[in-house]
Amino acid sequence: MTARLDGKVAIVTGASSGIGLAVARKLVAAGARVALVARTKAKLEDAVRELGEERAAAYPLDVKDFAALASLPEQVKQRFGGLDVLVNNAGLNHRGSVLEHSAAELADVITTNLTAPVYLTRAAIPHLRRGGFVVNVASLAGMVPVPHEAAYSASKAGLRAFTRSLDDELGARGLTACLVSPGPVDTGFVGDVEHVPDLVFSQPMRSAEQVADAVLECLETGEREIAIPRLSGALATVGYLFPSVARGLRPLLERRGAANKRAYLARKGR
Ligand SMILES: NC(=O)c1ccc[n+]([C@@H]2O[C@H](COP(=O)([O-])OP(=O)(O)OC[C@H]3O[C@@H](n4cnc5c(N)ncnc54)[C@H](OP(=O)(O)O)[C@@H]3O)[C@@H](O)[C@H]2O)c1
Repeated sequence: MTARLDGKVAIVTGASSGIGLAVARKLVAAGARVALVARTKAKLEDAVRELGEERAAAYPLDVKDFAALASLPEQVKQRFGGLDVLVNNAGLNHRGSVLEHSAAELADVITTNLTAPVYLTRAAIPHLRRGGFVVNVASLAGMVPVPHEAAYSASKAGLRAFTRSLDDELGARGLTACLVSPGPVDTGFVGDVEHVPDLVFSQPMRSAEQVADAVLECLETGEREIAIPRLSGALATVGYLFPSVARGLRPLLERRGAANKRAYLARKGR
């Protein structure tokens, strides 16, 4: 399992918590060295202490700072001697109706979740060694749009399209682009649970570690797209192809989601 990643060098965005931190831990456990990217310097430094300075380095930056993204791959190459993997995982969601948010807030979702990965991928490709990977963390919301998450759904659907098209063109350079699309994951991203649409909770919740396992599975097997859970990905595909079926199923899924949400809150003692 680990042979393919041993000695490889990775950039992971959103590595200060949740899925990104779990991916960084698993990459280091598999023998890779990791550049950790996020805004919160103190959390990145904690992670470097945990993972070891030989294996991890902190790059505190905002992915909306494109100048910082442009120079990042070269900096990582100089620090670790190469670059093999880019994991675009940093993400932002502003839940609620479009009119509840300013235009700038909605644009921030697109910039963070879509434009920044496009920018960093473009900056990284010339530096990635043959056999390298770009893995993008999207969402089931990118496979079937979620009500009251319009900008978020659009950003993740865009990231999915970008990844698929990119993979076609990267083959000629000996590179691969993959997508991991999770349903609900038990991280701080869930935020104010009351604000999360019941529909989101209708799908089984997974841990950051389970999503990180899927990222490593892409790297180890070359699988191009993994939805988590896989059955939810199939359901999302049907919902996208047949919007009337999705609308018909929605009351049922919302009832299930409301029950799951109550159980989740009870588990958390809230
Ligand atoms: N949790 C879920 O239910 C779920 C479901 C589907 C998909 N996802 C996707 O999974 C990814 C990771 O989310 P998570 O669940 O692990 O949430 P999380 O624990 O809140 O992690 C989000 C990460 O992104 C970083 N980040 C956010 N904005 C950033 C910016 N402008 N510049 C640099 N870093 C930024 C955060 O670090 P700082 O705050 O320190 O910058 C943090 O490390 C996201 O792309 C999200 O859309 C999550």
